[in-house]
Amino acid sequence: MTAAHPTLRLIHLSDLHFGAQHAGASDTLLRTIHELSPTLTLITGDLTQRARNSQFIAARQFFDQLPGAWVALPGNHDMPLFRPWHRLFAPRTRYRHHIGNATTERLDWPELRMALLDSTDPLAWRAGRLKTEAVNAAAAWLAQAQPGQLRIAAAHHPFARRERGNKGGMAGARHARHALIDTGGADILLWGHLHRSEITRIDTPSGRHAIGIGVGSPTSSRHVSDGLYFHQIDMAGDHINLLVWRRLASDSAFLRVASHRFVRDAAGWRAVSE
Ligand SMILES: [Fe+2]
Ligand SMILES: [Fe+2]
Repeated sequence: MTAAHPTLRLIHLSDLHFGAQHAGASDTLLRTIHELSPTLTLITGDLTQRARNSQFIAARQFFDQLPGAWVALPGNHDMPLFRPWHRLFAPRTRYRHHIGNATTERLDWPELRMALLDSTDPLAWRAGRLKTEAVNAAAAWLAQAQPGQLRIAAAHHPFARRERGNKGGMAGARHARHALIDTGGADILLWGHLHRSEITRIDTPSGRHAIGIGVGSPTSSRHVSDGLYFHQIDMAGDHINLLVWRRLASDSAFLRVASHRFVRDAAGWRAVSE
């Protein structure tokens, strides 16, 4: 496979934080995505900074200008932190009004089967939580994939093993890894939240594994000095090519700074050098 001829090109964005963006960052991002002409753009949460209507409207306007299809899920910042009644009893009302259904998104395309999971929880605002029933339903659905479909699960909070608390591990992550990889046969797990680009292999005790990919923020004003990030994931059968795009404060555009190739053989996915 070459990057120029993928079967499917996915752009993975996260943590856009409309309301707290570096000036002009979303326009620069949009221009770059148009040049890449993806099939699909996935946004893994924290669309807004404070879950304000104006911030959701700006996010939706951005999504509607994306080339190809887009799909999103909510992050902790998309729940109203400082309005306790709304946070506890109507945490996703504005997300649903402006963006879509937060909990049941599924994509079933010839090349991929993707389950979006809502990891936001008003009582675990920062760390996040995946509900067992939702994970089991997603795993059972992924398990029914046809040959040739890559199986992907995505959430805002990280699936990879981490210490609990603050920006650490989400509640339910261990069960999610086992269910999605062992039962669902997931090939890729995707997340955001940490504002950090990371590529890892996620193993389960059964010996199976998936590719774990967390992406940084492409727009947050807090991160423009250490780098704004997004990922391009080109997929073609048993080949995956992950391209890391970064923009520093001194850059007028995103630059491709790393690429990671993965090939699937009898033992599963393995990283191969360029
Ligand atoms: Fe965030
Ligand atoms: Fe977050």
